Amino acid sequence: MLKVLVLVSGGGTNLQAILDSIADGRIKDAEVVGVISNNPNAYALKRAEAAGVPGRCISPKSFGTREEFNEKFLEAVDACQPDLIVLAGFLVVIPPAMTAKYRNRIINIHPSLIPSFCGTGYYGLKVHEAALERGVKVVGATVHFVDEGTDTGPIILQKAVEVRPGDTPEILQRRVMEQAEWKILPEAVDLIAHGRVSVTDGRAAVTEEDR
Ligand code: GAR
Repeated sequence: MLKVLVLVSGGGTNLQAILDSIADGRIKDAEVVGVISNNPNAYALKRAEAAGVPGRCISPKSFGTREEFNEKFLEAVDACQPDLIVLAGFLVVIPPAMTAKYRNRIINIHPSLIPSFCGTGYYGLKVHEAALERGVKVVGATVHFVDEGTDTGPIILQKAVEVRPGDTPEILQRRVMEQAEWKILPEAVDLIAHGRVSVTDGRAAVTEEDR
């Protein structure tokens, strides 16, 4: 059974997609063992509670220095003994010590087709504002492993979504979530639970299902 720890900052719809997928069998052989938020008011913590998953908040704002936060944050993560850490709308930079300790065991969902509209400053609605501003006709979402950079790790899954005339950032965000994020994030968790994702020379590959 793959033990999954989900890190969140906000609404938690991607967390919900994982919980629902475990409940209805789209994700097999995995369980969410904990949810950690940096934001005490994150609705995601309510979703965790409703699903009977232990949730806790640890915020950089409660510590004098970033180093102190990073240390306690890593302790909180270690305490859950996760096999896989999922960043589901988590907006805090992962400390380098955590990236090193959990190499190829941390995945992130990003609301664009990386390498477009990613990196520092591109998160949440800002990604969709930038895509509409540029006038692209296809957007999407990416699940990737987390390395030391911002949105630079090995890409596991991507799914494209079309931009439609009259889209606002909010409408586009919702379509990207519905058509891409809530599908490929649970799919990636299921693939990892079944040992079907490997990383070689900085690139991820999904192996075919045994028949
Ligand atoms: C999602 O769209 C996720 O892709 C994005 O934040 C949103 C969180 O929504 N993440 C990033 O922008 C990370 N760079 P949720 O809390 O409802 O899952």
